This record gives sequence, structure tokens and C-alpha cells, in this order.
Amino acid sequence: MFALAPTDSASPANLLEGLLEQARALLQGERDPVANAANLSALIFHTLPGLNWAGFYWMKGGELVLGPFQGKPACVRIALGRGVCGTAARERRTIVVPDVDKFPGHIACDSASRSEIVVPVVSEGEVMGVLDIDSPALARFDEAHAQALERLVADFVAATDLGP
Ligand code: SME
Repeated sequence: MFALAPTDSASPANLLEGLLEQARALLQGERDPVANAANLSALIFHTLPGLNWAGFYWMKGGELVLGPFQGKPACVRIALGRGVCGTAARERRTIVVPDVDKFPGHIACDSASRSEIVVPVVSEGEVMGVLDIDSPALARFDEAHAQALERLVADFVAATDLGP
């Protein structure tokens, strides 16, 4: 039996692989959206080093509303098309922002945030919300993060009852 390497000494690729494995284990046998989103927020926040916020916003009544998260209290409502979250939701695509000061309209919930990644949560062709992750470091997220987090969100959607 091999012991898992401690997360702070794992390579970035191993860290993302481990994150996906742990996410699948947490999602196994549970379909509640709040429970699953809360546990994934905590898993991401405590697995990836150098984050200051990780969580979900849900589409409700045509705008994004704060869901389960880890980090400081955040903006509660974001209009579709506003900020990184609203843009990712409207354009239905993952957005990686290496420097939030260079993203026009970025919404600064926590002034410590320097870079950000937002992945839309799409189920049966409908945008249900977004996964938003922030870091106080510039350029914290890259294409490998985008791919892994899109996988994680797809696993979440498959494992969870995302009713209206
Ligand atoms: N920065 C986001 C707002 C959400 S907070 O970062 C938690 C945005 O520009 O949409």
C-alpha cells in the first residue's frame, strides 16, 4: 500500500488528479445540491494552495445568487453579463483571468483577489450557475486548471439533482 504524497509536495498535475478523485469520492451516493456544492467548495479551498475564495453562484430569476462557498463573505447577487462570473454564465464558457485588474468590470468581493477562474455549471444545455475560484496570487490558474475544473463540474452535474 502506497501512502498518498502530502498535497504541498505533490506536483500541480498530481494535485489536480487527486482533487478529481476526492471529488468523485465525496459525490458518491449523494445527490443533494447544497451538500455536494458545499463539500466541493471545501475540498477545492483546502486542496489547492494559494486560494482566498472558492464557491458557487446559482442562476435564480435571471441573475446569479451566492451559494455554498469557502472564504470571506461575498457579493450576494451578480447580474448576467456582469463581472467574471456573469460573463462566464452568459457566454457559457470557462474564463481564466490572470490579472483581475485587467478584466473590465471585474467585481472585487475581496480586495485581496488578484487572479480568478470561473467555470459555468451547465446541465441539459441550461446554465445552472458557476463555480468561482479566486487567488491572491497573479496568474494562479492555467489551462490545466480549466480542464480539471470543467471535469469536476461535469462530475458534480452528473452526480447531483439540480432541479429548478
Ligand atoms: N470576482 C467575481 C465576483 C465574485 S467574487 O470573486 C466571490 C466577478 O467578477 O464576477
